[in-house]
Amino acid sequence: QILILDFGSQYTQLIARRIRELHVFCEIHPYTHAPQLAARISAGDDSLRGVILSGSPCSVRDADSPNPDLSGILGKVPVLGICYGAQLLAQQGGGEVLPATIREYGRARLTSLEEASPLLTGLHLDTQVWMSHGDTIKTLPAEYNIIASTPEVAVAAYQLPGQDTYGIQFHPEVTHSTEGKQLLANFVVNICGCDQSWTPEHFVDSMVEALQNTVGPDDQVILGLSGGVDSSVAALLLHRAIGPRLHGIFVDNGLLRQDEFASVLKAYEGLGLNVTGVNAAPEFYAALAGLTDPEQKRKAIGRTFVEVFDREAQKVEGARWLAQGTIYPDVIESVSVHGGPAVTIKSHHNVGGLPEKMNLKIVEPLRMLFKDEVREVGATLGLPADILNRHPFPGPGLGIRILGDITPEKVDLLQRADGVFINLLKERGLYDKTWQAGAMLLPIQSVGVMGDERTYERVVALRAVTSVDGMTADWAHLPYDFLAEVSNKIINQVRGINRVVYDISSKPPATIEWE
Ligand code: XMP
Repeated sequence: QILILDFGSQYTQLIARRIRELHVFCEIHPYTHAPQLAARISAGDDSLRGVILSGSPCSVRDADSPNPDLSGILGKVPVLGICYGAQLLAQQGGGEVLPATIREYGRARLTSLEEASPLLTGLHLDTQVWMSHGDTIKTLPAEYNIIASTPEVAVAAYQLPGQDTYGIQFHPEVTHSTEGKQLLANFVVNICGCDQSWTPEHFVDSMVEALQNTVGPDDQVILGLSGGVDSSVAALLLHRAIGPRLHGIFVDNGLLRQDEFASVLKAYEGLGLNVTGVNAAPEFYAALAGLTDPEQKRKAIGRTFVEVFDREAQKVEGARWLAQGTIYPDVIESVSVHGGPAVTIKSHHNVGGLPEKMNLKIVEPLRMLFKDEVREVGATLGLPADILNRHPFPGPGLGIRILGDITPEKVDLLQRADGVFINLLKERGLYDKTWQAGAMLLPIQSVGVMGDERTYERVVALRAVTSVDGMTADWAHLPYDFLAEVSNKIINQVRGINRVVYDISSKPPATIEWE
């Protein structure tokens, strides 16, 4: 495996993804783990094949910038410093890093390039690379060799003689570095000697084996299923490992989409999963009655979910494990520089106090996977396309898409309007082109006219966005003709709605949900 020491760059996860695209397993650790890494190396852990030092928003010239002792790593395994990582290695070796006279940002070309260097094999002279740095390596330690330059950056890449330690000033992980993937392949495959066996099939086989070894032969495992891709893939992996000893619990909170509970349950049964569907809608509606504040609604939904889930879980005799669909971005200890908290570990998926109360251990079969890898594993395991490619859907469901208080009548109205929108997106081939879409029921009524009569009915807002990770999003530029069709169909078919509007706000400053 390859290990990335993270110094807080926005690109660190991208480096890991690029390496995994080469079918090489790669993990991210905060730079503060350098001593543990050195200890692994000195203990002769040969699973560790190479180390990458990431970029950083910091400057190596600042006294309080990250500056770990790398002496237990350098020269012992191959090391590639990228941007800050390269500057750090140069400075620690006695070189000089200064502010760049012009801020070097954007495209550049490698106008000199040492083709004999194993790091640069197969790269072409004048290849485009992406620069993003405020500091520049002014002088290298005497023994270091420059292996590439751009017209502005003399030290674009260097190598230490006699060892596989390299530094590069540009970012090979971004697509603007057109031969960046080749460079990373040179490092991880040729220099580090990793075999390219990290494939979805390989992951499935090794995870199934690991689960069989972890979960005792009589242990029962509980898993909350949501119809989303993460929990569904976790279920399939566990099912393959332990069969019916996996007990899936799928709660209908009365806030799911039209027909979703029945259709997802049917899909799970078709996959042979041992799943209990729990119809708890009345409990959720009771807990929500009269609540209008979004956070109070979220809390009521969360609390009720824990109660219902706990009750169902207690019925499983011999339960020893609680499985969760946690994925890698939730697990990575994010390095926060500039005075933020040093380490934050996100944990979204905890189900109340269940693990302590029932003395359950946690098992997270997806905790090493990025979202796109979860999908690949799901495809390998035969997960149907409609679950595999399902849009993200918030845990509180339609509860935060009905603005104001929630009643079963409003849920029914919104389910039907949302159903028209989603089905037409699918029929017109637009569903897979949007990241997330849905309808919002607004807490106002407006005047309309139908036949000879004035109406005074509800307004629905349609929301569709494009995004990569939900952190930022743009409104989807859906065709006018399509929006007209959706609007007509909703107003004609869903009695109680006489006006449809389309949300054209991006995130930020707006959010994807309206509450
Ligand atoms: P926002 O509205 O913050 O949403 O732009 C970003 C993503 O998060 C989802 N979301 C939630 N998911 N519980 C969830 O499980 C919540 O309370 C919640 N609020 C927002 C939202 O659907 C989008 O994918």
